[in-house]
Amino acid sequence: MASQYQDVYRSWKDKPFEFWGEAAKQVDWIKPPKTVFDPEAGVYGRWFPDGTLNTCYNAVDRHVKNGRAEQAALIYDSPVTGIKRTYTYAELLAEVNAVSAVLKDFGVGKGDRVLAYMPMIPEAVIGVLACARLGAIHSVVFGGFAAKELATRINDCHPKVILTASCGIEPNRTVKYKPLLDEAIELAAVKPEKLLILQRPQAIAEMIPGRDFDWADLVVAAVAERRHVEPEEMKATDPLYILYTSGTTGIPKGVVRDNGGHAVALMWTMKNLYGIEPGEVFWAASDVGWVVGHSYILYGQLLYGATTVVYEGKPIGTPDAGAFWRMVEEYKISALFTAPTAFRAVRKEDPNAELLKKYDVSSMRTLFLAGERADPDTVAWAEKILGVPVIDHWWQTETGWAIAGNPVGLGALPVKHGSPTVAMPGYDIQIVDEAAHPVPPGKMGSIVIKLPLPPGNLPTLWQQDVRMKESYLTDFPGFYKTADAGFIDEDGYVYIMGRTDDIINVAGHRLSTGGMEEVLASHPDVAECAVIGVKDQLKGEQPCGFIVLKSGVDRSPIEIEREIVKLVRDKIGPVAAFKIAITVNRLPKTRSGKILRGTMKKIADHDPWTMPATIDDPAIIDEIMAALDHKGV
Ligand code: COA
Ligand code: AMP
Repeated sequence: MASQYQDVYRSWKDKPFEFWGEAAKQVDWIKPPKTVFDPEAGVYGRWFPDGTLNTCYNAVDRHVKNGRAEQAALIYDSPVTGIKRTYTYAELLAEVNAVSAVLKDFGVGKGDRVLAYMPMIPEAVIGVLACARLGAIHSVVFGGFAAKELATRINDCHPKVILTASCGIEPNRTVKYKPLLDEAIELAAVKPEKLLILQRPQAIAEMIPGRDFDWADLVVAAVAERRHVEPEEMKATDPLYILYTSGTTGIPKGVVRDNGGHAVALMWTMKNLYGIEPGEVFWAASDVGWVVGHSYILYGQLLYGATTVVYEGKPIGTPDAGAFWRMVEEYKISALFTAPTAFRAVRKEDPNAELLKKYDVSSMRTLFLAGERADPDTVAWAEKILGVPVIDHWWQTETGWAIAGNPVGLGALPVKHGSPTVAMPGYDIQIVDEAAHPVPPGKMGSIVIKLPLPPGNLPTLWQQDVRMKESYLTDFPGFYKTADAGFIDEDGYVYIMGRTDDIINVAGHRLSTGGMEEVLASHPDVAECAVIGVKDQLKGEQPCGFIVLKSGVDRSPIEIEREIVKLVRDKIGPVAAFKIAITVNRLPKTRSGKILRGTMKKIADHDPWTMPATIDDPAIIDEIMAALDHKGV
């Protein structure tokens, strides 16, 4: 079929407010919005300012009312524990009501914050939906972060209650959450009042009487009593959640998502971008701790009446590289969404896709990739083995849904390897130079989006309007700075080539090298340091830290490097995947003292590089090259 994309994009561009007003009809509003957009409100305007709704009602209750009570809402499949369970919409509603009742008994209400530190289990979805029902603002923290990172988030959002489980299960170990939480609460300046803890048999948590409560005791009782909590009427502009993401410092940014714009945007994407129908199974193999997990594990499918999947496992090793194919066959998955790194992992284990032959994956119409650049080689391999369109799309925690993509539901456009295709309606993507002047097609520059950002994008950072403006809206007035660099070709295809800041992307996870440098610098023997992201065949990038020791330190550098690796794991978490620390005598700098991280990266990546004219002492480069060589980088 000929793609309707051009017509749809033009209809948005001609009449953006009519476009989103029409899209908003998919939401069950309590008070339908009379105003689609108020340019005077908030930092850059607000969507649907006079509409009211409840997101949980839209994601659960209304499907039960409208004939989907017995349809699967959530599939839980956990190869690491052997548990599988499917929840119908009716069952999901009962569970969500019960957790809402428990939270209400704890005194949680509209506007209160609830932090969720959860592994990939159904209770993670149930817990956040319960918050949405009450109008409490949830903030999910990824399980791979350490206590200090948790403490930073607790300090920033002041949660009244924390939802958690006694442990997460990684293929190689059980991650006990409770000691991490206890340490984080100890470190934090503000303390949550209560913890609701799901005890898992793999590691039973010790409870602090009066503060810690057993999920099973309270929630199971509330389910048995059929407790019901009325969904709270929320303004479309009220925050639904805060999701922390890496900024350029060690202090993460609290990206705020509102209720109304979020529901409108996600529902629009389900049909038009992903080509999914209500009742179908759409699996995002991500984690609820990331934005992909928020939009397409926690919310998108449920808002649309489709089926979501909570998979507690990995693409490989649980038990093998056929895990994705087993899932597709078993649950008749219509579309799979994952990060390219997962496919690189599968390919490494099973280059000829022998395991795929064991399964019937004919239900799968499309593979979607995002989270990092989809390298053409991996895309071509996936296309070859699967025989379905492989669709890259580009987005950020801040945007909550795709900025550029290939709208399968509108009729897919031809795929160009290396490009996430074209701007989605809502986004006027432009490429500009440092002076904010547009550059011609094909030329690299900073990627910016003309304001206002569409519904579902961040209205601000949690209680930090000024940081919002400074981080995103100041460098290019009238535009949102994506901090990605790239170009747009003659056909309007967007190419994302890298970041303009110090963020790196490790296995689809966004990490701040600045944050890591803060940790390295905190080691008592370290005088100076620099962290760069170096190319990695599996994870895309991996962090590599250089340290200069304080004069007079006569300990073994190898020992100190080991301590540095442990320090990053302890302070940021295993997710940082920080494994390489290299001791050098000096760091290459410009004459004005700026560390030449860009040159170091090119050398480490074996990319062509030239000696910067401003370098203070060219001889240091030889030392860096020798040190990298010695470490096998
Ligand atoms: N809780 C605790 N620890 C976690 C964790 C969690 N939820 N998730 C990951 N970790 C740990 C891992 O166990 C690993 O620890 P280790 O150093 O002891 O081995 C470390 O964090 C790094 O994890 P990861 O980067 O995931 O590497 P991996 O080697 O375990 O797995 C892949 C590699 C490619 C299989 C894996 O990264 C993957 O499936 N990626 C998909 C990407 C994705 O979902 N991205 C989200 C955005 S779409
Ligand atoms: P996160 O906020 O964790 O989703 O990370 C967002 C960043 O990941 C973007 O700013 C990009 O740098 C990168 N990214 C995400 N998706 C893509 C993609 N499809 N192609 C290239 N880079 C991507």
